[in-house]
Amino acid sequence: MVKKLLSAARPEDRAHVQYHISCGPGDVARYVLLPGDPDRVQKIASQWSSRRKVAQHREFITYTGKFKGSPVSCTSTGIGGPAAAIVVEELLRVGADTFIRVGTTGALSKGTSVGDVVISTGSVRLDGTSSQYVWTGYPAMANYEVVAAMVQAAESLGVRYTLGVTASTDSFYTGQGRPGFRDYMQHQSEVIIDDAKRAGIVNFEMESATIFTLAGLYHARAGCVCAVIANRETDEFVKEAGVSEAISVANTTVSILNEWDNLKEANGKRNFYPSLLFKNR
Ligand code: URA
Repeated sequence: MVKKLLSAARPEDRAHVQYHISCGPGDVARYVLLPGDPDRVQKIASQWSSRRKVAQHREFITYTGKFKGSPVSCTSTGIGGPAAAIVVEELLRVGADTFIRVGTTGALSKGTSVGDVVISTGSVRLDGTSSQYVWTGYPAMANYEVVAAMVQAAESLGVRYTLGVTASTDSFYTGQGRPGFRDYMQHQSEVIIDDAKRAGIVNFEMESATIFTLAGLYHARAGCVCAVIANRETDEFVKEAGVSEAISVANTTVSILNEWDNLKEANGKRNFYPSLLFKNR
């Protein structure tokens, strides 16, 4: 169906339904989980007490519902920074303010096993999208409240996790030190894993740097929990390893953040700090 949008610079309709994600105001909760894989949206929502499919367009599927009484949505981003940036841009316009990437990753050392999860404290911006927003020196930081809630979620669920700095690349193959077709490789790809390890980087994935950069610029909150499906030191790759655990951590993070946000509001505070938990008890 041919449908005219507001303008070329503002691709939304009169009800503010966004061009790519097909969601409008009221369709999503403030807390939005962001898997890359559209097939994972239903799996994430299956842990909720209620859910409804809100929209589907291209690789972007959105569900909204409740997890343990907390309002929550989930939108798939597809792979990579360009699509993740579109999703964050459009979700912000319809009311989201907290982004929880739940993805998959390759760990760089054998201390982080396949089947564990990685919680990112920040990301090295080896993507291309974020540099179209701001200087490359601008930090891609996870929000401290989201990180703390993720750590609490993993601890309470008994999920094995590593906390540390992630590197986001725009290339799954040469960007992460894997040979391209017919073993194509430049020098930078040959040294990327060693250099990353020397810098203490825990893992490679492909979206968190873009999501963190945009969240920082727009005063939103973002965090990232990834299932370790590959380990570059042991050379293992196990599809879906740790994915259920990462999803449980992400959903539980939402209920913890919702509790903390309610405490902040009740006490007139802008930021969460641990002793708020004991103030009214
Ligand atoms: N996702 C990545 O970006 N890299 C991996 O090695 C596994 C998942």
